[in-house]
Amino acid sequence: MPTYQSKNTGGTPTTRASELLTAALAHADADVDKAASNTSTSSRGSLRAILHEAHALVTGTEPYLEQNTSDLIVPSAHPVARVQVHAAWNDLLEVTQRTDWVALKDEGKTRFELGAGMCSGPYEAVVLQNLALLQRTRSVLEIGTFTGTATLAFALLPSVEKVVALDIEPYLAELVTPYWQRAGTAQKIDFKIAPALESLADLSKQQHAPFDLVFIDADKPSYKAYVQAVLDGGLLSENGVILADNTMYKGFPWATPGAHEQQATTGATVAEDDFAQGNRTNNRSKSEATTGIADFNTYVREHSDLETVMLPIRDGITIIRRKL
Ligand SMILES: C[S@@+](CC[C@H](N)C(=O)[O-])C[C@H]1O[C@@H](n2cnc3c(N)ncnc32)[C@H](O)[C@@H]1O
Repeated sequence: MPTYQSKNTGGTPTTRASELLTAALAHADADVDKAASNTSTSSRGSLRAILHEAHALVTGTEPYLEQNTSDLIVPSAHPVARVQVHAAWNDLLEVTQRTDWVALKDEGKTRFELGAGMCSGPYEAVVLQNLALLQRTRSVLEIGTFTGTATLAFALLPSVEKVVALDIEPYLAELVTPYWQRAGTAQKIDFKIAPALESLADLSKQQHAPFDLVFIDADKPSYKAYVQAVLDGGLLSENGVILADNTMYKGFPWATPGAHEQQATTGATVAEDDFAQGNRTNNRSKSEATTGIADFNTYVREHSDLETVMLPIRDGITIIRRKL
């Protein structure tokens, strides 16, 4: 725990939503106390109004962030015209959504069942580009590539000379390489297909130059092992940063889903759970991923050589660096 805990953060959409929902709960509790038949119309009206406001606030947050964020950054000096890069980018996002990932798994084309929800998406890509730009990143290691949208985004940056991208699924290389080519980024990307821990061991054995930015975004239970392999294997440059994605893991580490949520199967959740196990039994893999992320968050926060900050961007991005 930090030695100083902030008391008044000035409010965020989340704290406001929390206050609204607290108020709504107070009304709901009052309703229960009075018994349904005696509940005043005005109390029910207030409850509905507060719930509507909270709903609009929470539901609108991510779309509002996206609307007010630039398109993917394509430098003017990039050898492929911006309009063509954006066309390739949109097509890559589109094919990610359109692909029947369940059928691919059933046909044996992928080892695990992947899903469109695994893609970090257009907003996070611009966040990642900005984080990479802030520290003039020259080399990137991505652990868990999927359809290579973040990979392409990193490779577009003029300072970035090389992106080593790791994934376990051979099918992905076949699918995504043409889009990287169309965007004029393929020559910067080295896509290695193998279990990530094996690729990391190979990179250290070959004494690969340390990376300025490592993006961890593969199977959740292995996050801690990935950080250890990167640090012990000499794969992080002196002032390098590790970015770990999904570190809030849908809020499961601190707010266990209720029974209604356990049954609801959103694309992203199911897909992420499934790839962890390679089957469609969700709850066990969901709990393994949750435990993996919770343990990882504690591990990096308590690591004597590391500084961390969690950012509530999409499903949580943690920035990790060596202590100064
Ligand atoms: C969440 S997706 C990556 C998303 C991607 N970084 C992006 O920004 O869109 C996770 C990927 O990790 C891969 N993966 C899962 N387990 C792995 C492992 N043991 N080794 C390498 N890749 C793995 C999956 O095949 C999947 O493509």
